[in-house]
Amino acid sequence: MTHPRKIIIDTDPGQDDAVAILLALSAPERLEVLGLTAVAGNVPLALTQRNARVVAQLSGRPVPVHAGCDAPMRRPLVTAEHVHGKTGLDGATLPEPTWPLSPQHGVDFLIDTLRREAPGTVTLCPLGPLTNIATAFARAPDIVSRVAEIVLMGGAYFEVGNITPAAEFNIYVDPEAADIVFKSGVPLVVVPLDCTHKALTSRAWVEGLRGLGTPVGQAVAGWTDFFERFDTAKYGSEGAPLHDACVIAYLLAPHLFSGRHINVEIETGSELTLGMTVADWWRVTKRAPNALFLGHVDRDALFDLLTLQLSKL
Ligand code: RIB
Ligand code: CA
Repeated sequence: MTHPRKIIIDTDPGQDDAVAILLALSAPERLEVLGLTAVAGNVPLALTQRNARVVAQLSGRPVPVHAGCDAPMRRPLVTAEHVHGKTGLDGATLPEPTWPLSPQHGVDFLIDTLRREAPGTVTLCPLGPLTNIATAFARAPDIVSRVAEIVLMGGAYFEVGNITPAAEFNIYVDPEAADIVFKSGVPLVVVPLDCTHKALTSRAWVEGLRGLGTPVGQAVAGWTDFFERFDTAKYGSEGAPLHDACVIAYLLAPHLFSGRHINVEIETGSELTLGMTVADWWRVTKRAPNALFLGHVDRDALFDLLTLQLSKL
């Protein structure tokens, strides 16, 4: 009997974050979610912490929610209401959460949890800008070696950027934080747009979720209906890319994904390419590999997994 993997989800909900959180909470026999730490990103912190509590309450699973940093380490916050709507969870109307916000700051929760749990037993799953993680590493360097692995959504190489021509949103918002994380030496699994742009919802899948007739099915269907309009208009693609759900799906079913262990570094100097993940996919440099950079996901199997798991909530 293997024990469930201990994880902390760092998040800026965001409809796709919400699906990721629900997926994680649907599999307590596989994943022990020690807590959610909200970060400013898609929408300001006041909304991301509220949205994280909305999702926790919707799941019916008891998970602590902590508010973390309300701005990037050294830059003003850039948000993405144009993608996620004013609330960050547009598309489904859910009641104001009664689920409480834990009094401990998210960064302190990360530090205390990593110091309490045995070294190498906690995986961090950042789904937004890396501000909370990098701030914890800077404030308490002793925790870095205690992290088992970081599995994060962020970056792009062949897919190029989605917030600028060169950069993906999570990395772009706080490139200095990303630089700290990518240079930390912690084993990294990076789930970039190269992978998540293949994780597109289909009309049939969304209607299948709606057909579950559950509050979770209704909410996820409404969120994806709203969320897909941006990518459909921009890329002409069918469906919404469930970026962040790929992080949790990787934990549950890594065989659905493939990629390369390569060097990935973050542009923090050039305003033109700020936040670019410079991925040495063809290994043309001698820079040491620091990340498993994913390039592909089995779309059909991914959405079968999502339906199976979300139907349990
Ligand atoms: O670029 C996609 C990422 O930015 C996702 O995590 C989405 O939720 C937004 O945070
Ligand atoms: Ca996110």
